[in-house]
Order: sequence, then structure tokens, then C-alpha cells
Amino acid sequence: MAARIGFNAIDGTRIEIAILELCRNLIVHAGGGELILEQVHTDNEIGIAIEACDNGPGIEDIDLALRDGYSTKHSLGAGLPGVKRLMDAFTIESTVGVGTRVRVLKWPSRQSTYHSMKAHL
Ligand SMILES: Nc1ncnc2c1ncn2[C@@H]1O[C@H](COP(=O)(O)OP(=O)(O)OP(=O)(O)O)[C@@H](O)[C@H]1O
Ligand SMILES: [Mg+2]
Repeated sequence: MAARIGFNAIDGTRIEIAILELCRNLIVHAGGGELILEQVHTDNEIGIAIEACDNGPGIEDIDLALRDGYSTKHSLGAGLPGVKRLMDAFTIESTVGVGTRVRVLKWPSRQSTYHSMKAHL
């Protein structure tokens, strides 16, 4: 889907990682859930939205859950902060005892990371 929209291989990999981490969280922390992928549009761009929803236990402290290294399952605690860094927009809503919804957006990069790097010699 990402390739069809026109994302390059690097962005495609970023999208794959985001999907993987959100699915892992659905399975590990919420006992399952739903993942929805959709195309989103502005006047001149097509992007992708990834939404993970569950009816799991919810997250008590969202700020803490977004911190590098924080995990309630003795794991790396790298999933959510990593997804936030890889995507262009990140929204999380969670209610304890009700569930969690994470929605992220990615727009095609105008330049690859390599092209935007400058050498200081
Ligand atoms: N869908 C969810 N439902 C309930 N709690 C969640 C959910 N997703 C994340 N969390 C909570 O947020 C914490 C941080 O999530 P994150 O993905 O960053 O780390 P992790 O899943 O514990 O470890 P890693 O993803 O690095 O293996 C989790 O440990 C868990 O407490
Ligand atoms: Mg995780």
C-alpha cells in the first residue's frame, strides 16, 4: 500500500516498523485489537494513516508510556517512542479499563535523509 501511494523504500520501512510495533502492543498489552490502514489526503499530498484500537486495560500514565525505556512487561520500552519519532503525527487516547487508540500519520519525505545531510569538513 505504501509503495502504491508513492512512498520510497526508507519510508516504507518506517511504516512497516510502526505497524509492527503497534501490532505487538495490541497483542502483548491488550490481548488483541484492530489495526486500520487508510490513505489520507491534503490538497497536494497522499499519505497513510495507521490506527491501532483495542479494548484492553488502557494506559495509566501516557507521558510515562512514551518515554524511552519505560515498559510494564520488562521489554525494551522502545515501541511507542520509536513509532512517534518515525511518523509525522502521533495521537494516543487511552482510558484505564476501557482501551487504547493510537493513530499515526506519515507523509512522503521530500528528501531522503542522505540528501539532507551536510558534511562539515
Ligand atoms: N495497547 C496498549 N494497551 C495497554 N498498554 C499499552 C499499550 N501499548 C503500550 N502500552 C503500555 O505502554 C508501555 C510502553 O509501550 P512500548 O511499546 O513503548 O514498550 P513495550 O511494549 O513495553 O516494549 P517494546 O515495545 O520495546 O518491546 C508498555 O509497557 C505498556 O505498559
Ligand atoms: Mg511495545
